[in-house]
Amino acid sequence: MKRTLLSALLTGVLVYAATPVSAATDTVKPAITILATGGTIAGSSASNTDTTDYKAGSLGIDVLMKAVPEMNDVATVKGEQISNTISGNISSSILLTLSKRINGLLGSEGQQGVVITHGTDTIEETAFFLDLTVKSDKPVVLVGAMRPATAISADGPMNLLEAVTLAADSKAQKRGVMVVLNDRIGSAFYTSKTNSTTLDTFKAYDPGYLGVFVSGKPKFYFTPAQPVDRNFFDVSKLNDLPPVEILYSYQDQLPAMLDAAVQSGAKGIVIAGSGNGNVSSKMEQAIKQLSEKGVPVVMSARTGSGYVSTKSFAIGAGFLNPQKSRILLQLALASGADLKQTAQYFDSQR
Ligand code: SIN
Repeated sequence: MKRTLLSALLTGVLVYAATPVSAATDTVKPAITILATGGTIAGSSASNTDTTDYKAGSLGIDVLMKAVPEMNDVATVKGEQISNTISGNISSSILLTLSKRINGLLGSEGQQGVVITHGTDTIEETAFFLDLTVKSDKPVVLVGAMRPATAISADGPMNLLEAVTLAADSKAQKRGVMVVLNDRIGSAFYTSKTNSTTLDTFKAYDPGYLGVFVSGKPKFYFTPAQPVDRNFFDVSKLNDLPPVEILYSYQDQLPAMLDAAVQSGAKGIVIAGSGNGNVSSKMEQAIKQLSEKGVPVVMSARTGSGYVSTKSFAIGAGFLNPQKSRILLQLALASGADLKQTAQYFDSQR
């Protein structure tokens, strides 16, 4: 795409900021709302070769939309700015705002789908959270970029166009929340960021992708399917989520870190264990004691992929990586689940 956000920035940012966000009036086209949260897709830098030191979450949704007028050919698009920040700053409060807004939008008959622009660092956490808390068959698509909007060959504009195209496509229904980057369509349940800087970073090593974009059109590999035993959590009445901490496991890990986490307010703990969610004998003992006090501990893996089975001393995360396990444990705690019920939420992954 020759038109870049750099030119939009240099020539029209003030005009664009004052322009109504609604970008088209054709009511025949599917109605799509973009909820913008920030990230590299909204990032800018003074240098067009800078892909690491730019400022993420700089540009407003109006600027992003003006840079991709092609989206108006596939949908009637509106934009809303939920936040404009790096994705490390996405809080429980923003997650709940997003989920409630999306459930509200998709509850309306005229709304075909929703796109969320997001920083890629934690996009998988937000995507997973939304997958468990949005009740709709309509498409919900998260999109980000690995290069800021000001870079040569910025990936954001094409990613955004593909996300809107996917959300507007009836074949995208009943597939759960999806993540789109680099022409790939991934399941929110399984997809993770696997490389810190490259464009092909989003992968689900074992389950694979749902589909791919070819010349701007989504091509699915399978008919609609859902992750096995995905749970739904109603968050409509929640204003916050219980704190859950993740502890990374390694040789000679100090068991005292478990108590430090609980004393700091953690209501549950996820361990990024080695191999099949393993820890040292001393850690095992400390985890058992914590579980006996009613603090749920979930064993996940630091390996980046694979299955973690239940232990005699703690709940196994199944296929969920530590950051997704944390979200599920937060939702289980928020729903008032006891240890047995919490274990069942994770058991349902097996
Ligand atoms: C972020 O996650 O906000 C920064 C990195 C990115 O969007 O790629």
